[in-house]
Amino acid sequence: MIDRNDPCWCKSGQKWKKCHYPKEPIQTTGELNSTLARTYRKKYGILLKTPEQIAGIRAAGNLAAQILEKTCQMAKAGVTTNQLNAFAEKLHQEAGAIPACLGYGDPPFPKSICTSLNEVVCHGIPDDKPLIEGDILNIDITSILQGYYGDCSRMVVIGKTTEEKQRVVDVSYECLMRAIAILKPGVLVSQIGDVIEDYAAKHGCSVVNLFVAHGVGVDFHEPPQVPHHRNQIHIPLVEGMTFTIEPMINAGIRTTIVDYDDGWTARTADKKPSAQWEHTLLITSNGCEILTPWVK
Ligand code: MF3
Ligand code: CO
Ligand code: CO
Repeated sequence: MIDRNDPCWCKSGQKWKKCHYPKEPIQTTGELNSTLARTYRKKYGILLKTPEQIAGIRAAGNLAAQILEKTCQMAKAGVTTNQLNAFAEKLHQEAGAIPACLGYGDPPFPKSICTSLNEVVCHGIPDDKPLIEGDILNIDITSILQGYYGDCSRMVVIGKTTEEKQRVVDVSYECLMRAIAILKPGVLVSQIGDVIEDYAAKHGCSVVNLFVAHGVGVDFHEPPQVPHHRNQIHIPLVEGMTFTIEPMINAGIRTTIVDYDDGWTARTADKKPSAQWEHTLLITSNGCEILTPWVK
């Protein structure tokens, strides 16, 4: 822990209390005070996590996944998304955690979870409309536990749905799992978009490019951006990176429009269905670990 009278971490030569106080130094101690960690921080703004940080993010991710599964089990015809929101809020409270979505961004997100129905791509706001047979719903939950973030989402199909809706649900799940399957040190961020775009196109679906996945762990949205569409981000993955993959896959065109009035709800321009699944991931020495282990 840095003392107020210590030299500032920014190397200005001034005391911390006269300089960046109370902003604390980004932790780069232990094994990760390495050339690689410094390079990733400087070159890309990416924070490689210490074992202590990883343990914290793992705990937050486990909690987010548990709350997500319980909330999904509640999603049935006749239930409102506001009821799901209240339930998830209560589970956070009981666990001593904070739902990261509440009050996030500008305008401040008004609820604790995102509930994105049918043609809503992401960032749907819970409301009082009951779910009905045939709906496809994404529930997205980010939990803050002891300052660490875990971010995940999954789809729920209400009863039986149409062939088109079921297809986006299945294709987006496959896109996520196929992307996860290639993760290991040395793989480029751009290869994630290649895998997802190839699979979606092969199944007649499009990949949303207005929103991307992201670093996560000590903050909600950290560098790098991780696009799901084809891209030129040639950053090699390295051990200790934590980020999400959360492909948004549309049955029709990829074009997505954010609601002008609420500033959040993102819908497909052609009103055709969209689906999304999300995990928080850690790059390990030879692959990856899923830090939000919900099961389908
Ligand atoms: N959880 C979303 C993501 O996957 C972000 C939601 S931001 C909110 O990154 F404000 F809408 F909650
Ligand atoms: Co996310
Ligand atoms: Co999310």
